[in-house]
Amino acid sequence: MTKKCYITTPIYYVNSVPHIGHAYTTIALDVLARHKRQKGLDVRFLTGTDEHGANIEKSAAAKGVSPKEWTDEVSAKYKEMWKTLNISYDDFIRTTDAKHEHVVQAIFEKLLKSGDIYLGSYSGKYCLSCEQYYNESEMLEGGLCPVHKRPLTDVHEETYFFKLSRYQDALLKFYEENPGFLSPKFRANEIINFVKGGLQDLSVTRTKVKWGVPVLSNPAHTVYVWFDALINYVSAAGYGTLICEDKAEHEAQLKQIRADKFEDLWPADLHMVGKEIFRFHAVIWPAMLMALGLPLPKKVFAHGWWTVEGEKMSKSLGNIVDPAEVAAKYGTDPLRAFLFREVPFGQDGDFSMESFKNRYNSDLANNIGNLLSRTLNMAAKNIGELPEKIEGDYPLLKKADEVEQTIDKAYDELAFDKVLEAIYGYGGDLNKLVDDKKPWVLAKTDPEAAKAVLLELVGGLRRVALWLEPFMPTIAKEMQKRLLPGKIEKYPPLFPRLEDK
Ligand code: MSP
Repeated sequence: MTKKCYITTPIYYVNSVPHIGHAYTTIALDVLARHKRQKGLDVRFLTGTDEHGANIEKSAAAKGVSPKEWTDEVSAKYKEMWKTLNISYDDFIRTTDAKHEHVVQAIFEKLLKSGDIYLGSYSGKYCLSCEQYYNESEMLEGGLCPVHKRPLTDVHEETYFFKLSRYQDALLKFYEENPGFLSPKFRANEIINFVKGGLQDLSVTRTKVKWGVPVLSNPAHTVYVWFDALINYVSAAGYGTLICEDKAEHEAQLKQIRADKFEDLWPADLHMVGKEIFRFHAVIWPAMLMALGLPLPKKVFAHGWWTVEGEKMSKSLGNIVDPAEVAAKYGTDPLRAFLFREVPFGQDGDFSMESFKNRYNSDLANNIGNLLSRTLNMAAKNIGELPEKIEGDYPLLKKADEVEQTIDKAYDELAFDKVLEAIYGYGGDLNKLVDDKKPWVLAKTDPEAAKAVLLELVGGLRRVALWLEPFMPTIAKEMQKRLLPGKIEKYPPLFPRLEDK
């Protein structure tokens, strides 16, 4: 059995329904998964929902339902959204799954035994929304949460600590020896400086939060939601059977529910996350893995954040973009592709319907869509039937091989914007060929030469249709169908122009 290409999104909190930000991460990973599958890799794409903690407890109470009912409802909404957005995930983990909870408990006990977790007490300033303590240097003036800009709460509690401080040197050494581990570079530097500044042990249990995984040996404590959540990446991969030998009962349960061989998946090839949770994935999670004696993931990539028409998305501003709404109006595929078009992946970006429409018209309607219609109409008149193979010395078909190399390299760097730039750029080259050679004029004087131009265009478009598939799976398939060998049919436009409102 060879190792699978194992890639993950964050698991999303179920205190509210998915918006364009969550969709962004998940679509990015879906694009990558589809690209890798096209290249013949055996991909395991994991996503899921993060369902424990005080915030979820509160959201459920506010709705007058039990946390379980609430998490079932919102988790289902995530699945629905991923269906609407055509997300090809292979596995969906919920932190309330019994198989996950058992692994969290087993890991906790293992680390307790190894001395990586110890009992102590904690007093500090806590943000209830972030589920995180902040120290003096991190909080804003006036003791405010740096993220929510609201007052932090004083918390004093008995708590178990994870010995994060023990891993400072090992982490720094790992970052140095594995320069590709944290990406992009400018975000990696922030992390490295943070670790160099010194690491404090991390409080990893709560006595006040009931909605969480109970510590097996001391059920007055529940496991801190982040400690619980990060473990999803290994619990979903089948970890756990390896550490439960001493608990026969545990093991029997785990064996029943696991089909995967952990070694076939771990270490993960990529954790894709948003920039605000990079630290958890770049510092805490690797330290947890070191404590467990497990290999570290190959890469953690932190992308930037979307604002909407210049504003941070928020309920109170009422500017939250619902991806399902955009998809219903303009199509899932154009939305999927748009998200990666303008903003270099890794940077922040601003979402506006105006730029969506502009890009739709320029990239899709005028460039690719128009090229396909023109080519097929002319080919119907001048060729009649499309051949299976297009052979001959066509400059733009040679160029397609170079473009594909550019595309593959861009995927390696997770530069989705560059992938699209290369594809649309090549579409531009094909359009230019039409404008320069004017096959409809040429057909009158030199039908063979006109035919050759049209074949070159069809060959080029077939490549484009394959390249577009990770971003626009449905439309690209339709495009491939229209370009199949045989008689050319009449089709409606692939991307009808959006009229400016
Ligand atoms: N539950 C944690 C993650 C645990 S992973 C072990 C969490 N969940 S979340 O629901 O808040 O989702 C956060 C993720 O959603 C971000 O990391 C990012 O991927 C995505 N986004 C949420 N809002 C976003 C934007 N406005 N823009 C881009 N992506 C953002 O954190």
